[in-house]
Amino acid sequence: MKPFRDEIEALQQSAITRFSLPHMQDKEVIPLWYGEGDTVTPDFISQAAIQALEAGQTFYTHTRGGLPLRAALKTYLDRLYKLDIDPDRITVPGAAMLGVNIAAQTALTNGDHGLIVGPAWPNIETCFRVTGASVSYVSQHETDRGWHIPVDDIIGAVLPNTKAIFVNSPCNPTGWVMQRSEQEELLEFCRARQILIISDEVYHRIVYDQNVAPSFLSITRDDDPVIVINGFSKAWAMTGWRIGWVVAPKRHVSQWAGLSESFNTGATNFVQAGAIAALEQGEDFVRQQVKQFSQSRDRVIEAFSKCEGLDLCAPQGAFYAFPRVTDTASCEGLVEDILKSTKVGLAPGSAFGPSSDAYFRLCFARSPDNLQIALDRMVRFFQS
Ligand SMILES: Cc1ncc(COP(=O)(O)O)c(C=O)c1O
Repeated sequence: MKPFRDEIEALQQSAITRFSLPHMQDKEVIPLWYGEGDTVTPDFISQAAIQALEAGQTFYTHTRGGLPLRAALKTYLDRLYKLDIDPDRITVPGAAMLGVNIAAQTALTNGDHGLIVGPAWPNIETCFRVTGASVSYVSQHETDRGWHIPVDDIIGAVLPNTKAIFVNSPCNPTGWVMQRSEQEELLEFCRARQILIISDEVYHRIVYDQNVAPSFLSITRDDDPVIVINGFSKAWAMTGWRIGWVVAPKRHVSQWAGLSESFNTGATNFVQAGAIAALEQGEDFVRQQVKQFSQSRDRVIEAFSKCEGLDLCAPQGAFYAFPRVTDTASCEGLVEDILKSTKVGLAPGSAFGPSSDAYFRLCFARSPDNLQIALDRMVRFFQS
C-alpha cells in the first residue's frame, strides 16, 4: 500500500519554474520567462475591488460566481461575439487555470486518453495527468503565414479512448490562431464522437489583425461537448487576481455549481467587483495594451532578424515569441547561457511538450524600454 497515486509520484516540475525559481530574487534579471507583463492592473479596476472590500464584501458568494458578475459576463460575451448566450452556462470558479483543471476532471479518468494540441503551456499536461489519463500531443507546424495545424492532423491523433482534446487559441507559446472554419470542422467530429473540446481562450483579445480571436462560443449549441475557458489575467493585466470564467454545456449547470463549490467555493468576493469594472469599462485599456503588444512584437521580429541562427515564425496572437534555434537539438543549455551572460530570463522550449526542444519562449508583454534593453542584450549575445 502506498498513499500517493502513481500519477502524482511521476509529476515533474515544469522547465519554466526549474529555470526561473532559483533566480526570482535577482533584481538584475529581466524576466521574460513568465506569461505576464510589467503593467500594473489599471486603477479603475483596483478601485472597484477596494470599494467592495470597504463595503464589506468579504463573504462567500454564489458558488458559480455572483449574479452581477455573471450578468456582466453575459453582456460582454454577447457584445463581443454577437450572441445571446444562456447565462446558466457561465461559471466563475476562480482562476482560468482552475477552470481548465475542473474541465479536465469532467471528462478524463484512469484508462482514458487526453490529446493536447501543442506546443502547449506545461500546466495543461499536468492537470491532464493528475486525472490519471494518458496524454499525448499533436503538433502545430511553422508555415509562411504563421504556426498552423490542419484539423485532419488533430483528428488523426485521436485514439479509441480519447475523451478530451485541449485547444488553446491564440496559443501560448506559438501565437497560432485557430480559424472559425477549423473550429467548425473539429466540433463536427467531436460532436459525432462525443469527445470533449476544452477550448482555452485566455488570449482571446490579444490578436494582431482582428478585434477578437474566433471562439468556439460562436458555433456551439447549448449542449455540445465543449467547455470554453477564459480569464481576466491577460487582457486586463490581472494575473495576480486569480479570476476567470468557464462556459459549459447547459445540462451541467448544477454539476458546475457543485464542482465550483467543492474546488474553491466560488471566486473571491471583492475581486469580482474588479472583474465587473474590467468588463464594463476596460475596452480602452484592452485596445491600448494590444497596440503596445503589437509594437513589441514588431521589435522582437526586427531584433531576431539580426540574430544568426534564430528562426522566428511571427505570432498571430498572444504575447510570446517562440523562435527555433537552428543549430541545436536542445535549448536548455543556451537559455542557461543567455541568462548567465545577459541576465535575460527565457523559458526553454522543452517545457512546452515534445518536439519543442530546439525552441525558446520569450514574453514580450513588457514596457517598451525594458523590452528593448533585453533585446539589445540578446542581439549582442547572438552576434558574438
Ligand atoms: C494557455 C493558458 N491557459 C491558462 C492560463 C491560466 O490563466 P490564469 O492565470 O488566468 O489562471 C494561462 C496563463 O499563463 C495560459 O497561458
